This record gives sequence, C-alpha cells and structure tokens, in this order.
Amino acid sequence: MRFKDKVVLITGGANGIGKETALLFSKNGAKVMIADFDETSGISTREELRNQGAEAEFVKADVSQLHDVQKMVDVTRERFTQIDVLINNAGITRDGFLVKMEAEQWERVIAINLSGVFYCTHVVAKEMIDRGSGVILNAASVVGLYGNVGQTNYAAAKAGVIGMTKTWAKELGPKGIRVNAVAPGFIVTGMTDKVPEKILELMKERTPLRRLGQPSDIANAYLFLASDEASFINGAVLSVDGGLVF
Ligand code: NAI
Repeated sequence: MRFKDKVVLITGGANGIGKETALLFSKNGAKVMIADFDETSGISTREELRNQGAEAEFVKADVSQLHDVQKMVDVTRERFTQIDVLINNAGITRDGFLVKMEAEQWERVIAINLSGVFYCTHVVAKEMIDRGSGVILNAASVVGLYGNVGQTNYAAAKAGVIGMTKTWAKELGPKGIRVNAVAPGFIVTGMTDKVPEKILELMKERTPLRRLGQPSDIANAYLFLASDEASFINGAVLSVDGGLVF
C-alpha cells in the first residue's frame, strides 16, 4: 500500500496502458481519477477498480481542450482535494508517410499528444507548486527518441514531450516536483492493434528480449517513478522497450 491516500490523475486511463496503470496504483492504495474522452470504457474501468475495493472516479475530458482540462482538474480537486501524481498518458496515432500526411492528421496528433500534455501539466502544476510537492509522469515513446517511418506527427509530439519533461524537471525541481517520462517500445494495446502482424513480428525479432511489451511493463515503470524509491530521479526518460533501441 505504498500509495495509500495518494491521489493519482491518469489521462487516457480508460484503456490500454492507462487502464493497467490505474489498476496498479489502486492496488497500491492510491485514489485514482481516470480522465478520458471514451466515456463507456472510462465508466467500466472505474467500476472494475471499485469492485477491487479502490476509491476511483471517472471524468470525461478531451486533453486537447484547455477548458476540458480545467474541468477535469476541478472535478478531481472537488472529489479528492489534491493531485499528488499526474500521469499524462492520453495519446493517439494517425500514421502516414510525410507527403501523404494530411494537415488534419498532423494537427490532431499534435493537439492531443503534445498540447494535451502541456495543458494538463500547466493546470495541475500550479497546485503542486503551492503545495511544494508532486510527481508528473509523461508518456513519451521510443519513436520520440529515434523516429519511425510513417509517424512524422507522432515522433514530433513525443520528442516534444521529452523536451517538455526536461524543461519542467528544471523549472519544477526546485519547487519539490519531479518530472520524468517513460519511453515505451511496442506495447500490446488497442493502439498497436492497428499495426500489421508482419510489423509486430519484425519488432519482436528486433527486440533483444524477443517479445512485445505488456501494459503492465509500463505501469510498473510509472509506479516506480512515482514512488519515494525514485526520489532522486528527475528529468529522466526511461526506455521500457526490451532493449529495442539504445
Ligand atoms: P490506447 O489507445 O490503448 O489508449 C489511449 C487512451 O487515451 C484511450 O483510452 C483513449 O480514449 C484516450 N485518449 C485518446 N485521446 C484522448 C484525448 N484527447 N483526451 C482524453 N483521452 C484520450 O493507447 P496505449 O497504447 O495505451 O497508449 C498510451 C500512451 O502510451 C499513449 O500516449 C501512447 O502514445 C503511448 N505509447 C504507446 C505505445 C504502444 O506501443 N502501445 C508505445 C509508445 C508510447
């Protein structure tokens, strides 16, 4: 129960890695707010957590809309008073080769995966600064470190997340707030459902550990980075990719 009475706000917490992270933090005693624009899955995840005896809530929010983000934070504070850990996990892909990528594909990925992380942290950090403590964790990607064919928009957003992580570690560290990112490799979720089986097999072969990642691999990294055991880790980008890229 390492996170007893800690409040964790997880964006994109309704599915995939976010859902697994919500389950893990709640098993460790945290009060969890799931924020997602997928209301059906968000409510069902909330119920799953409650059935395990957790204190969990769901708020419908689109992280690419600042007014939604403000509402998300207000609802969380009303219910749980404060936010100890913010996990900026919500993200999408809209892949396409550079010359074929429509402006809409570019803008949507940047709006959610980059601006969304900025908006959520912008609003939550104010309260953390007043309190003098907090942890912010961002979903980056190996693609933000090394690029990937067909993912100009996604690579730009995730590289931006890494830049923001390092900037905020410097700005917020003196105020008692730690900021880190996790860079997952290929993790089996709804997001990778869209990737052709052939590519997934290739990724598996290229991964020294010869398997794809599971959502629990990433949830465990978030749990560690949020814990007191990581109290001197700030501004780090932790690759969790089976050794795929280094
Ligand atoms: P997923 O598609 O299973 O889950 C993403 C969640 O984010 C969904 O519940 C979705 O409804 C929510 N979401 C999307 N846009 C939103 C918005 N505007 N506002 C609120 N919620 C929104 O994806 P997965 O795989 O769990 O990914 C989670 C994070 O990890 C993402 O940031 C992704 O880029 C990152 N990641 C995933 C990898 C993978 O292989 N699955 C690899 C590297 C990074």
